[in-house]
Amino acid sequence: VVRAWSVIVHGGAKTIRPERQIHNRTGCETAAAAAQAVLEGGGSAIDAVEAAILAMEDDPTFNAGYGSVQNADGDIEMDAALMSGVDLSLGAIAAIRGVRHPISVAKALLQDKAVLLVGDGAARYAAEIGAELRADSPPAVPSDEACNTVGCVALDNAGRLAAGTSTGGLNGVRAGRVGDSPIPGCGLYAEDALGGVSFSGDGESILRLALAARIMGDLAALDVQAAVDAAIAQMGRVGGEAGCIALDPRGNAAFAHNSEHFAVGTADPEQGVRTFLNQKEFLDG
Ligand code: GLY
Repeated sequence: VVRAWSVIVHGGAKTIRPERQIHNRTGCETAAAAAQAVLEGGGSAIDAVEAAILAMEDDPTFNAGYGSVQNADGDIEMDAALMSGVDLSLGAIAAIRGVRHPISVAKALLQDKAVLLVGDGAARYAAEIGAELRADSPPAVPSDEACNTVGCVALDNAGRLAAGTSTGGLNGVRAGRVGDSPIPGCGLYAEDALGGVSFSGDGESILRLALAARIMGDLAALDVQAAVDAAIAQMGRVGGEAGCIALDPRGNAAFAHNSEHFAVGTADPEQGVRTFLNQKEFLDG
């Protein structure tokens, strides 16, 4: 199938208690619909990924933006990245504090020579571009769900792919710790001829396995579902939980996870917006 446009979002690979499942579904639905509105209006894949992640950064259900967890010092340090499959341009920020929408700072950086800015330098850049500041106090996020990342991959009707991630990192980690989310070839990647991917999960494991790079390599030979399944199977080598979403250049969506749940939303012209809490729901479709 070749789709005019397609989008897939995720809200974290985790165990989701029954009473929290509706919030995860609604959050993914809202994010996928935000991207859909951009893509139906002829907007770019980059703008669609930003729109989806903006919605999730403002939703306390998710560990990104407003819902970000605290590190061991009680501070909030966030990571985000946005990549264009057209020219492999990338904007990434790590351990940034004090901004409402890390994904928009990453997007602005797409225009800059620098690919990755961290800490105070990232915050100074955010101030230079007039990025919106965040409210200081984080919401009370249930600690069993206070993990993992949001992400999105989109294909627009000009055949352009983009991938993005945004996260508050993991609960209680060392100050300055950075996971997979802002690192190309680990937490995300996009290349128009091959596909796009975005991860959630235990960042150290995803970094050590360079999982996004493995998928990009496999996409030349495998279909997109087989490629994401193979990447998640690698997690057994190092341990930990992860989930991955992907699109191929024709807009076929796939996802895989080894966590109990993985909150996912998809949208395309044929099927509209759909949400899933595990891969079985998706494959049984
Ligand atoms: N996957 C998010 C993190 O480990 O920081």
